[in-house]
Amino acid sequence: EKLFGIIGYPLGHSMSPLLHNWGFAQKDINAVYMAWPTAPEKIADFMNAFKTLPISGASVTIPHKISVMDYIDELTIRAKGVGAVNTLYWEQDKLIGDNTDTAGCSEPLRPHCDHVKNALLLGAGGASRAAIVGLKSLQIKEISITNRTKSKADDLAEEFGISSLDWKKRGDEHYDLIINSTSLGMSGDKQELNPMIMDNVDKKTIAYDLIYNPLETIFLKEAKAKGCKTLSGIEMFLHQGLAQFKIWTGLDLDELRARELLLEHL
Ligand code: ATR
Repeated sequence: EKLFGIIGYPLGHSMSPLLHNWGFAQKDINAVYMAWPTAPEKIADFMNAFKTLPISGASVTIPHKISVMDYIDELTIRAKGVGAVNTLYWEQDKLIGDNTDTAGCSEPLRPHCDHVKNALLLGAGGASRAAIVGLKSLQIKEISITNRTKSKADDLAEEFGISSLDWKKRGDEHYDLIINSTSLGMSGDKQELNPMIMDNVDKKTIAYDLIYNPLETIFLKEAKAKGCKTLSGIEMFLHQGLAQFKIWTGLDLDELRARELLLEHL
């Protein structure tokens, strides 16, 4: 029996065990996926044990996506690009760190993004780096980033060769795609919920919120009211997970059924 799991802290609400154990059952794979809550001060001990135990792979989540890089033999190009790891797997005796959050951003957009010429990314935190690498993989020509704290947007713009614009100007122009990678609108967040001015969106605009709790944020509600195509954060979670499953098993899960499973358990 193969062993997989998720490393993070806390892990109370993770849906990864649900998704991967369901996937193993679907594909008749003799494997189990566990939750391994690991406090930050335990990550060194944990990773040293990980490397000696017969564990086939793992997901990595907050707060360990950067700290695990110290224990990895090789990073994939996209993990290097993001500067963070969410997936561990072995290649012979080398421990590889990958980042499928990039696919979580790009894959839900791929079927819709033929007409997308320009994209605006709201936010410049941890999630935003994976979003940029994902967007770049879609060959979108003009990518702009905006953030409440402008210096962070400027830094990412310079690092990734994209444009930065003032947070107050985020609604001034039309964008074919707007992605929210801020924490604005997360459940319990009583602050300004609508992170953008909706004046310049229309039926051609795709609005993608990386937040999945709540499933329909105010951002998505307002975008829908304007006729935009909307994608919720469940797509991000689903697609980063499908990409992990593929890395570990070589197999594709049924996307529709996997989405249904997650929606039932939200
Ligand atoms: P994550 O790793 O999930 O991206 P993070 O690194 O803490 O989380 O980033 C949170 C993002 O949400 C940041 O872009 C943050 O903007 P600042 O860099 O200005 O802090 C953004 N954010 C959080 N609260 C916000 C608010 N009330 N208004 C605008 N942006 C907000």
